[in-house]
Amino acid sequence: MAVALEVGRETAPVTPLGNRAYTDPAFFRAELDRLWGKSWVCLGFAHEVPEPGHVHPVSLGGKPLLLVRDHAGTLRVFWNVCRHRGMQLVSAPERLAGVIRCPYHSWCYALEGALKVTPHVGGPGLNIDPAIDRAVLGLVPVRTAEWLGCVFVDLSGAAPSFAEHVAPLARRWADFADRPLHAGGTDCSFALEVGTNWKLAVENYCESYHLPWVHPGLNSYSRLEDHYTIIEAGFAGQGTLAYRPLLAADGGRLPAFTGLPETWTEGAEYVALYPNLLLGVHKDHTFALRLEPLAADRTREHVAIWFADPAALQPQHAGLRQRLAALWREVFEEDIGVVEGMQQGRHADAFDGGVFSPVMDAATAAFHGWITKRYRETGLHGD
Ligand code: FES
Ligand SMILES: [Fe+2]
Repeated sequence: MAVALEVGRETAPVTPLGNRAYTDPAFFRAELDRLWGKSWVCLGFAHEVPEPGHVHPVSLGGKPLLLVRDHAGTLRVFWNVCRHRGMQLVSAPERLAGVIRCPYHSWCYALEGALKVTPHVGGPGLNIDPAIDRAVLGLVPVRTAEWLGCVFVDLSGAAPSFAEHVAPLARRWADFADRPLHAGGTDCSFALEVGTNWKLAVENYCESYHLPWVHPGLNSYSRLEDHYTIIEAGFAGQGTLAYRPLLAADGGRLPAFTGLPETWTEGAEYVALYPNLLLGVHKDHTFALRLEPLAADRTREHVAIWFADPAALQPQHAGLRQRLAALWREVFEEDIGVVEGMQQGRHADAFDGGVFSPVMDAATAAFHGWITKRYRETGLHGD
């Protein structure tokens, strides 16, 4: 099979970003407000609130948000803040029996957001007050979308529609996009804290150039030459023509999606959906790394793995599930040294952004093309 190299409209020559875009705390804050705050970004995973009543607090660059599964089963996202005096409402994931109760003065909100109870607000024993109009003091909702098991938000409420945002990748991965996915248990969900700027995690994920030296294990069966570059509007990454599912001692394997085209028999793809979601799809599982920016030089990577078939969650597959999770964890941990090393390198006055190999770094260059355009649109300068 020929190596497919797709060239999208974001491959125009770009100048690599300078050090300041990775190291300057003020630039980091501005980037969060102007780029992250005005784009669709991944906030979490749908299975983090599996049942009605589940609430899951999340921080997006220090901004407190709350994933909620309401009584009807709809996933909602609100600002995690009480409309009274601004107390953070929920500090840890839990399953609520009824309402969301503020721990400060016990104002209570329905899972759908409406303010229901305001105890003693008009004086002892008076739970209403003419000055407090509950009807306009519900939780503040955030524009939300769900796709491939992931939850996205647009804090500005003004970005183009999510359907438009995800359309190119949804088209490319139509074989996967509308299928039910089955989240693995706790062993398939972990987080890594990494001493790097979030962009270096994206850049490293996009390219397979580093495979022989950073991932010798992976490279032994999915070699550099088995990979091809993917560049489209809104995402970039790589694919492999040599995906080999794990085998159990008895030759068993995890069940695959049914009816997939033949290209996925040994094919798998890995792309970064800008800005912060690193995805992988295979015939028997998908995974995601959600990048949570903590500081200019710190990023938390939240990993989740989903399976193609609910049978994969049965006890007889526990060994394969754990091996798969361990394999990906090892690969992602192997990347930590290089993204942290690049972060350190960006304190070198002599480093001018470096150079891109037109062949091996094309996906990284495409990401820089995308982000440079976003910086320009929002008045940020990354040089
Ligand atoms: S701050 Fe929430 S009830 Fe007062
Ligand atoms: Fe890697």
